[in-house]
Amino acid sequence: MWRNGDIIPWREANTHVSAHALHYGSGVFEGMRCYETVDGPAVFCLEAHLERLYNSASVYGIQIPYARAEIADAICEVIQTNEFSSCYVRPLCYYGSSTLGVHPAKCPVEVVILTWPWATYLGAESLERGVRVTVSPWLKFQSQMMPTTAKACGQYVNSILAVRDAVSRGFDEALLLNTEGHIAEGSGENLFIVHDRQLVTNDEGHSILLGITRDVVMRIARDLGCRVETGALRLDDLLNADEAFFTGTAAEVTPICEVDGVQIKTGRRGPLTERIQEIFFAATSGRDERYKDWLHLVAPQPVEVVC
Ligand SMILES: Cc1ncc(COP(=O)(O)O)c(C=O)c1O
Repeated sequence: MWRNGDIIPWREANTHVSAHALHYGSGVFEGMRCYETVDGPAVFCLEAHLERLYNSASVYGIQIPYARAEIADAICEVIQTNEFSSCYVRPLCYYGSSTLGVHPAKCPVEVVILTWPWATYLGAESLERGVRVTVSPWLKFQSQMMPTTAKACGQYVNSILAVRDAVSRGFDEALLLNTEGHIAEGSGENLFIVHDRQLVTNDEGHSILLGITRDVVMRIARDLGCRVETGALRLDDLLNADEAFFTGTAAEVTPICEVDGVQIKTGRRGPLTERIQEIFFAATSGRDERYKDWLHLVAPQPVEVVC
């Protein structure tokens, strides 16, 4: 892994127990995937993830002491050093040790990049069979309480409460409602509902993290000729949907087959979800020319010399 400018072995990547972030969650991070593509390993939507990382940091006043290009190069270096053809990538910028006052004051900003192989997030069969979800008794915090569009460490205790509750009751994932009673999102995913080939998802006005996979799926769906709308997602709309699915870097495009015991339509992956999945995975593996811009190759390509 990478820490403050150097590649170091995983076992040596220690932090002091007095680190501010360990006590108060004062850090920001990203979750990206590097996919095996026809041109070699490539990080999917690297630029968009870095944009969100720096925006999250800015909201919390965390000054990342590296330029975006340096972080991008460091990510590629860690993947290459590990010789991964595909993996998950986790850059984390957090306040280290100095004070344990709530104000981080002079705490240093530490930057680390972890990579590890990570298979399907919601279980091996979930991409085909779909997941069973439950409405969480925990509400998603609203943007005046915490910036929902930032990906900050401490914000995830809300998701942890929700997913722990869901799993303890035998479900795969939680759906969190917002303070207005509409669906916000999963503990780590955005939600799409399909009605008559029209997709509906929500936006930052509904207390969600603006997912990068969400943007990718909106583009794919529009290119397929589908209408994509953003607006409030009511529980009723979900229960009466033709299809529903989660999007996220970890969950990719995962069908939802059941909500609190109520089947969505047939209770199986819907045809549009399947088509979007196919195109999504063609894009992540570099097999769809239209979406090659989303891939950031880890190793520079040799320049072709024409004689
Ligand atoms: C709370 C939450 N919502 C949505 C998402 C999906 O975001 P993305 O598609 O950028 O991974 C994530 C994953 O990072 C998340 O943690």
